[in-house]
Amino acid sequence: MDRISIVGGKQLSGSLAISGAKNAALPLMIASLLTSERLTLKNVPNLADVNTLARILRNHGVDLAVDGKRADPSPYLGETFHLTARDIVDTTAPYEMVSRMRASFWVLGPLLARCGVARVSMPGGCAIGTRPVDLHLMGLKALGAEIEIDGGYVVAKATKGLKGARVSFPKVSVGATHAVLMAAALAKGETVIENAAREPEIGDVAECLAKMGCKMEGIGTSTLRIQGAGRLEGAVHTVLPDRIETGTYAFAVAAAGGDVELRGARKSLLDTAFAALEQAGVTIAETEHGVRIARNGRGLQPIAIETQPYPGFPTDLQAQLMALMTRAEGTSVIRETIFENRFMHVQELARLGADIQLQGDTATVRGVKQLRGAQVMATDLRASVSLVIAGLMAEGKTTINRVYHLDRGFERLEQKLSGCGADIERLVSG
Ligand code: EPU
Repeated sequence: MDRISIVGGKQLSGSLAISGAKNAALPLMIASLLTSERLTLKNVPNLADVNTLARILRNHGVDLAVDGKRADPSPYLGETFHLTARDIVDTTAPYEMVSRMRASFWVLGPLLARCGVARVSMPGGCAIGTRPVDLHLMGLKALGAEIEIDGGYVVAKATKGLKGARVSFPKVSVGATHAVLMAAALAKGETVIENAAREPEIGDVAECLAKMGCKMEGIGTSTLRIQGAGRLEGAVHTVLPDRIETGTYAFAVAAAGGDVELRGARKSLLDTAFAALEQAGVTIAETEHGVRIARNGRGLQPIAIETQPYPGFPTDLQAQLMALMTRAEGTSVIRETIFENRFMHVQELARLGADIQLQGDTATVRGVKQLRGAQVMATDLRASVSLVIAGLMAEGKTTINRVYHLDRGFERLEQKLSGCGADIERLVSG
């Protein structure tokens, strides 16, 4: 297994390119199941999760072609995928595939809507919490699906097709909103989703569905009104920039100090996270090509924050914020309200000398004068990158083991950071 080695203490400068959003690219790829025509997605990031999903979609019968290199003047445009699900040849998503990546469970809604039947393995738990799928099933049942659990599989049927309905979620869920949104696009009649997740990635999928011929109101709000199209067409769509990658590099620059432009980043996607960084003493400015992050010499101020669904502070940046606050001049309080077990990074940060006390859903982080490099273990995607941020601040060498977690969601992380002056390298195994 590859490892990443970082020698801390180098300031960062220059610029790096932000990729397309993983959490938009995945559901957009899944949306290709909704039409027999070609869906072209531009700016798809080159990530392990994208490749895993491509394998799963091919298994359902999706033809996937990827454009070769282009003489494109834009350095931050990712790959172009052409996905065509002319015939769905298999409506089962097997355990071996779904267990590798939770988001692959999201094929359930589109398969059911298009074929009237789907059999998808339950995704099971994961490192950050139990992550049930009850809200997905509740939403699809409201649209008329009959659902049973058989041998670890969700077996869903809608022999007469899905029918539009009012779906009022008791809790905000990104995945359940995607599931109902995609299924509703092919259902008969109008669906209203209340208490929908407002994450920009949902908006990106909604805009793509609109291009595919689905009429929709309320994009970006918590009430989505969808007129089922019965049949959807092909479309061309560009994946929006990754706000979590943007936030992660912003925290990295804040941690290491320096001045870096994040090219292709969209500042408006990160209002809450950037407000927190500004409160900590970091300068953030919109530029012609993205966002500039700078911290020159000043100490970091502690902050108190809790994670919330969008537009609140994202759970996917909680670990990165915590890493940064380990060196603040005072005590920060970070409350995780989305996932019950998303603190796997705490014990690893402690190996570097961080002072963090955990009580229930709240971490109290007392800033220390210095972190010292050590061997640490990546546990999940965002926790892993928090160790990179801590490594950039630590004195001496930090080695991060099990970096395959990082490859699931960060494209060319070492190149992007070393291009800005970080002393970071990948140690390729064997
Ligand atoms: N929940 C339920 N029942 C459900 C679904 C969710 O109780 O049927 C709960 C979850 O257990 C959690 C909360 O609702 O406590 C929110 O979960 P949500 O469904 O919003 O999360 P998700 O769709 O499984 C997506 C992202 C995550 C991100 C969360 C929250 C993708 C592929 N995944 O997960 O991203 O943390 O939304 O914003 O979009 C990551 O990229 O590292 C990642 C984990």
